[in-house]
Amino acid sequence: MSERETWATRVGFILAAIGSAVGLGNLWQFPFKTATNGGAAFVVFYLAAVVLVGFPAMLAEFVVGRRTNVNAVDAFGELGHRQWRVVGGLAVFTGFWILSYYNVVGGWVIRYVVGSVTGAYFADPGGYFGAVSSGPGAVLAQAVFLAIVVGIVALGIEDGIEKATKVMVPSIVVLMVALAAWVTTLPGAAKGYAFFLSPNVDTMVANAGSIIPFAVGQAFFTLSLGMAIMITYSSYVGSDDNLVFDGGTVVVTNTLVGVLAGLVVFPILLTIGAEVTSETGGAGALFVATAAGFGSVPFGRVFGVVFFGVVLIAALSSAISLLEVTVSYANDNFGIPRPYLATAAGVGLFVLGLPSAWDTAWLTWFDRFAYQVFLPVSVLALVVFVGWVVGHDAVDELTRGTEGLGPVGPVWLWTLRLVVVVAILGTLGLGINEMFL
Ligand code: PHE
Ligand code: NA
Repeated sequence: MSERETWATRVGFILAAIGSAVGLGNLWQFPFKTATNGGAAFVVFYLAAVVLVGFPAMLAEFVVGRRTNVNAVDAFGELGHRQWRVVGGLAVFTGFWILSYYNVVGGWVIRYVVGSVTGAYFADPGGYFGAVSSGPGAVLAQAVFLAIVVGIVALGIEDGIEKATKVMVPSIVVLMVALAAWVTTLPGAAKGYAFFLSPNVDTMVANAGSIIPFAVGQAFFTLSLGMAIMITYSSYVGSDDNLVFDGGTVVVTNTLVGVLAGLVVFPILLTIGAEVTSETGGAGALFVATAAGFGSVPFGRVFGVVFFGVVLIAALSSAISLLEVTVSYANDNFGIPRPYLATAAGVGLFVLGLPSAWDTAWLTWFDRFAYQVFLPVSVLALVVFVGWVVGHDAVDELTRGTEGLGPVGPVWLWTLRLVVVVAILGTLGLGINEMFL
């Protein structure tokens, strides 16, 4: 078997990880979930979840990957008893599950880029969404999105993923900043910022039980955790660089892009007086509402292309990371060339995504299950494994390259062992309560 690949540069690894993190979670779900969960109240819970739960869990994934330099399934077997491979398997499965409908939304985004160019959604945004989001057209668009993803992953770590994300990630940041500057000129800007950024404490307290599970689930999803992505990406790291710094860069950038998305979307929505609530909502609410916004503001066509273009780039750079998880596993184990593996995985994803492409009700169902069950369970298993089973070896791995940062190792370990575990158990309890009881 040929030698396993590594990232050409440290920046390449960081940008690829940011590319994975920054995606539909930031640009589509985060604003939407904020809008439907009490505005800034949700933002407060979300930020707490990212810092206290997401960041430590991300470092746990980094440690597993860099320590073993193998795919996510075998990584668990190398660090612990063979049976722990099940946890890696669950993460790979979770990623596959999520990617199946992520591609479908990616397909919608392609249609929105095109629709912005032609102005197709301007007259009837709701009707356009209905036409684009389900049925044969959605299946076709999903296939196009997947084909691009497969193409990039087929080229490999250095020539595919690293090269692509080096262009994609800076473009996302620059274009989002440009959009945020533009929306300051809209009449609804002030109201938009107020909605997004001023927390209503009463709402927070009253809805904590339903907001917290979403906030924690969103923290995992947005940081690409629980799907073996960060394990896989860090398994291609060949050096002893400071993982706390690398992870911190990913978390901060991801959060900034989420905040930027809110700063772009809410001024647009409040300018046209749109109300996005869970009643009017569902998967497409944000598409319909933002599209309506672009249809009725000056230069909406241009900015619509830019906005949906950014969403598309972000979705692609995330989807490639998820596909890489499966490809990495199969490549390590069977030595089949990448292009074949990427194509085969793409076909599997296409099939699993068919229900979601056909009917958004399925997509919502897949998404809910991912958030409230698979992701928390997967991250919980990871964290228990790294915190309690691997323990000191994990600290040893993390603190390679963190000299001068003080007692990061033990602080991290005990945060994992206690804070993260308790937060996830609580989230699962609340989520199960909400879903089934
Ligand atoms: N972090 C991604 C996002 O915010 C989530 C994700 C990554 C989902 C990769 C699927 C694949 O959109
Ligand atoms: Na994200």
